[in-house]
Amino acid sequence: MVSIPFRLSRKIKERCLDCSFCKNHLSCPGIERCIGCGICIDACPHEARVLDEILVERRLVKIKVDGESFEVPERITVLRALELLGFRVSRFPREGDLSAPCRTGGCWACAIILDGKLKRSCITPIHDGMSIETKRADVERLEPLRIVSSFQGHPSGGVGTPYWIKPKGLVSRYIEVACFAHGCILRCPTCQNWDITYSSRRAPLTPNQAAEIMTHERLRWGVNRMAISGGECTLNRRWLVEYIMKLRELNRNEHARFHVDTNAVIMAPDYIDELIEVGMTDIGPDVKGLKLETFMRISGLKDKELSGRLLQTEWRAVKYLIDEYYEKVFIGIGIPYNPKLISLDEIYLIGEKISSWAPDIQVCALDYRPEFRRKDIRRPSYSEMAQVKDILQEAGLRHVVCQTVKGLIGPGKV
Ligand code: FES
Repeated sequence: MVSIPFRLSRKIKERCLDCSFCKNHLSCPGIERCIGCGICIDACPHEARVLDEILVERRLVKIKVDGESFEVPERITVLRALELLGFRVSRFPREGDLSAPCRTGGCWACAIILDGKLKRSCITPIHDGMSIETKRADVERLEPLRIVSSFQGHPSGGVGTPYWIKPKGLVSRYIEVACFAHGCILRCPTCQNWDITYSSRRAPLTPNQAAEIMTHERLRWGVNRMAISGGECTLNRRWLVEYIMKLRELNRNEHARFHVDTNAVIMAPDYIDELIEVGMTDIGPDVKGLKLETFMRISGLKDKELSGRLLQTEWRAVKYLIDEYYEKVFIGIGIPYNPKLISLDEIYLIGEKISSWAPDIQVCALDYRPEFRRKDIRRPSYSEMAQVKDILQEAGLRHVVCQTVKGLIGPGKV
């Protein structure tokens, strides 16, 4: 037996509205068999779960890691067991011994070989006699997996869709097909796709399977543009690179466009190079503020050091894309707006920063709506968004579009 602090989920009864999201959409062994992975804490829209750290006695179980025998406490995740054994776990791809960016079971970037099969280390419980293989060369012999869903025709496109093909006002017609990757490194309280982001129960797809479904949808909707969004689609680098490659193989058509919508917070320059090399043609980095406190408010992250690094990576990705790929790939930058989340002064500073690099680049101001955990905020009005547009134009940007209650506006005068 061993006595160390264990994390256990607890339900706050007064907050729970019995929406059953945790029961129906999470890969969870149930609160009575809690392994402290924390996915229910991040996923609950009503914040009705907390993770208590308590001292309890636990039995030790025997496991093998890369052929070596160890003993670890039972009822913890494989990821936690590896951390206790000294493995360095990173949030960033190809960093440390293991990368685990979402930790809610959606991205499969943390998958390693457990009892001979590729499984997610962040949510799989340890068991007596378990065999764990972590070596990257062994893991990469297997096809990568990721949960991707909601393949569908899209009438408005994303941040990285050129404004001139987007329908104006409330007009609606399909311009691309999109799919959504589960799992995100951020915890945005206004997440619009939270039910996709945090859902972890679906069967994962290989890049080939996802590319085949996407191609089928493209033909069904009669469009040339294929977009991937999320959650955050860049978290599982090997999966995304292979997916774009397969998609390109299946759509050898000179008009085909391969579009990635991303928060860009883990997109190092070499990752951007790799995606462009395999065929990405359009990208929509969606920045979450300029100041650290704004980034933390919008992203919902509490860790200052991690937030600082993600914010820096995001802006460095935008600059790198402009410096190296402006007019070679289509770049559209997303800017968030809601008066409860970001000030108009900061919006001006964002506009000024981007216009100093590329005044003609497309930017799209997004009206952040009441969603997920911030149902208390109100959607910005049409005139507020028109003001945001004016401010970005005053800051020197010449191609500003705005998402509003009356549909898309801009560029040019309102
Ligand atoms: S980190 Fe485990 S699934 Fe994303």
